[in-house]
Amino acid sequence: MKIAVVGATGMVGQVMLKVLEERNLPITELIPVASEKSVGKKVSYKGKEFSIVSMDTAISMKPEIAIFSAGGNTSLEYAPKFAEVGTVVIDNSSAWRMDPTKKLVVPEINASELTKEDKIIANPNCSTIQMVMVLNPLHKKYKIKRVIVSTYQSVSGTGKAAVDQLNAEIANAVNPGSVEVNAVYPYQIFKNALPQCDVFYTDDYTKEELKLMNEPKKIMGDDSLKITATAVRIPVQGGHSESVNVEFENEFDLAEVKEILANTPGVVLQDDVENKVYPMCFYSEGKDEVFVGRIRRDISQPNTLNCWIVADNLRKGAATNAVQIAEYLIANGLV
Ligand SMILES: NC(=O)c1ccc[n+]([C@@H]2O[C@H](COP(=O)([O-])OP(=O)(O)OC[C@H]3O[C@@H](n4cnc5c(N)ncnc54)[C@H](OP(=O)(O)O)[C@@H]3O)[C@@H](O)[C@H]2O)c1
Repeated sequence: MKIAVVGATGMVGQVMLKVLEERNLPITELIPVASEKSVGKKVSYKGKEFSIVSMDTAISMKPEIAIFSAGGNTSLEYAPKFAEVGTVVIDNSSAWRMDPTKKLVVPEINASELTKEDKIIANPNCSTIQMVMVLNPLHKKYKIKRVIVSTYQSVSGTGKAAVDQLNAEIANAVNPGSVEVNAVYPYQIFKNALPQCDVFYTDDYTKEELKLMNEPKKIMGDDSLKITATAVRIPVQGGHSESVNVEFENEFDLAEVKEILANTPGVVLQDDVENKVYPMCFYSEGKDEVFVGRIRRDISQPNTLNCWIVADNLRKGAATNAVQIAEYLIANGLV
């Protein structure tokens, strides 16, 4: 199996190589791809060095699967070109997510929708994936009416340049003027919390907030879901956290909610306030699971609960989910 990793030098791409290695996919040929400026640079996979190739070279090699993590414009331009030569593209950008002709997949929830006809498959937004992993099993049991989510998102979610901005600002706090800051955010992120993730779009929501509001409906197959979101960037390097308030149509039992989540594959229940056990982004880094805790009744209205959901945005929020899609395609003879 020839697999191309497009965006192999980036934040997601680097983790993608690690996850592919850990999960031991049947790769006979790895094709790392990045922009023209990186062609010839080396990346490592399974202890060996591989040279970055250009998009056109990768297309001419006709890989069975190409996992894209190189931004929306790159996907819009190149995913169809890979698909034309028979490659199945799994795309991490937002380019195809809401396209009605493309599937938006979290394998634990809707991988069974995939068929041999799907040549471009969309991987959802990082903060969406961790939220639906928790919402979906509860929706099946109690039917969700409305969700209010506030996110606390790490800078690695914006990419390499944002991690560089935070690190430069930290260095300058210790030693003023020691490092040049190339800001990707509109303000300093160190010692700050920015109530803006991505650009402002319709109704004064940001694009990130609209992803959180729209993508779950498509993944969970229910357009009646009502979701409102506020997405906030915080000076944390890895792991996104979310405060989620969920109102159900039906009554629920708190112990049963915890039991359902404890038994949901890919979800880890960390909920023991007496012993100060709850999910934290610091401990989610490098892990593939979604962590949920602080589960409690919203005492301000019936049939409503609050919880706190944390995951590594580069893993389950991006690379792990994409590799799980590849695994499903391979295991089911869809590629
Ligand atoms: N970071 C996250 O948590 C996260 C989560 C889910 C989805 N995503 C999505 O994943 C994608 C990558 O994000 P990232 O955080 O990894 O960004 P990043 O660190 O900035 O990396 C971007 C990657 O794309 C490559 N690239 C840029 N332009 C290209 C072109 N024209 N042709 C080929 N390769 C090109 C870059 O190569 P060079 O090194 O050569 O410039 C680099 O490898 C984005 O679409 C993002 O929305 C990110």
